[in-house]
Amino acid sequence: MPTAPLMVRNGRIVRYEECRLHGFSGVVKYGCGVFEGLRAYWNEDQRQLWIFRLKDHLDRLAFGIRVLRLEGAPPIEEIGRGVIDMLRANDLRETCHVRVIVHLDDDDELSARGPVGWLAGAVPRGSSRFVEAGMHVKVSSWARIADAALPARVKATGNYLNNRAAELEAKRDGYDGALLLTAEGKLSEASGACVMLVRQGRLVTPSVTSDILESITRATLIELAREAGIEVVERPVDRSELWAAEEVLACGSGWEVVPIVSVDRLPVGDGEPGPITRALQRDYFAAVRGERPERMGWLTPVRPR
Ligand SMILES: Cc1ncc(COP(=O)(O)O)c(C=O)c1O
Repeated sequence: MPTAPLMVRNGRIVRYEECRLHGFSGVVKYGCGVFEGLRAYWNEDQRQLWIFRLKDHLDRLAFGIRVLRLEGAPPIEEIGRGVIDMLRANDLRETCHVRVIVHLDDDDELSARGPVGWLAGAVPRGSSRFVEAGMHVKVSSWARIADAALPARVKATGNYLNNRAAELEAKRDGYDGALLLTAEGKLSEASGACVMLVRQGRLVTPSVTSDILESITRATLIELAREAGIEVVERPVDRSELWAAEEVLACGSGWEVVPIVSVDRLPVGDGEPGPITRALQRDYFAAVRGERPERMGWLTPVRPR
C-alpha cells in the first residue's frame, strides 16, 4: 500500500517524492538511524483518528537517539508535533501505520554524530489477515542479535538486517513468519513482534533481557491481561515451550495481536486461535480505537475536537 502523499522532513511538510536524502548519508552507509512504527486508528463513529501511545514511541525514539549518540536531533515533542501535522495535512480517515526515522545525515566518517535528519510518513493499512486466521511460523536458523553486539532494545535501522534474514528464510520455506532464539537458544521474539505463550492459563513472555525490543504492545497486553485477572510471567522461555503451550501469540504495533497456530508445522494447542488470545485481541482493539473510556490516556487525537 503506498505511503500517504504528504510526509514531514526535518519539520517541513513535503510531498512524498521530495522526501530524499543523499546516497552517502550515514544511515545508508552505516545503517545509523533509529525508527518507530506506530499506528493511528480511525474511529468512524467518533470521526477521529487516534494515535496509539505516541508518547511511549517518542520516548523509545529518544532512548535510541541517546544510545546512538546522535547530536542535534530536535526535541522529541517537535517530532511528535510533526507526526500530528503530517497526519492532519493528509486528512487521513483510515487506520494507518506511521513510520518515523531519525538518522545520521550527510557524508561523513563512521564515528560522526551529526548532522541528524528526521522524517515521518503514514501508510494507510488495516489489520493483516493473520489477526483473524493466525500465523504459521518457523523457528529461524538465524540467532537474534545479542545485546553485547547490537542491542535489540534500540530500534536501530541497522538491527533489522537480522529480522530481514529471518523473514526471508521463513517465507522461502513456505511459512508466514519467523521466531528467533537468542544466541543461548532461548526464545527471543518474532521478526517484527514480541511473543507470548499461554501455559496452564498464565501468560508467559520472554523477559526484557531476552534480546527483545521492549515492545509497547507487549507492555499494553501485560497491563490488559492483569486487568482481566490473568497472571503474567516474564522469564526466559525454552524453545520447546512453544509446543507445550496452549496458545501462542505475537504482538506489535504493526502486527497488532496475532495468534500463532503452528510452530515448525506442529500445531499449537488444537491449531486454532485460543480463547485468551481472542480475549486479548478484543481488549486491545477496543483500547486502540478509543472505545475504552478508562484507556483514553493512551490516545492522541489527530483531528480537532
Ligand atoms: C523486532 C520487533 N520486536 C517487537 C516489536 C513490537 O514493538 P512495539 O509493540 O513497540 O511496536 C517490533 C515492532 O513493532 C519489532 O520490530
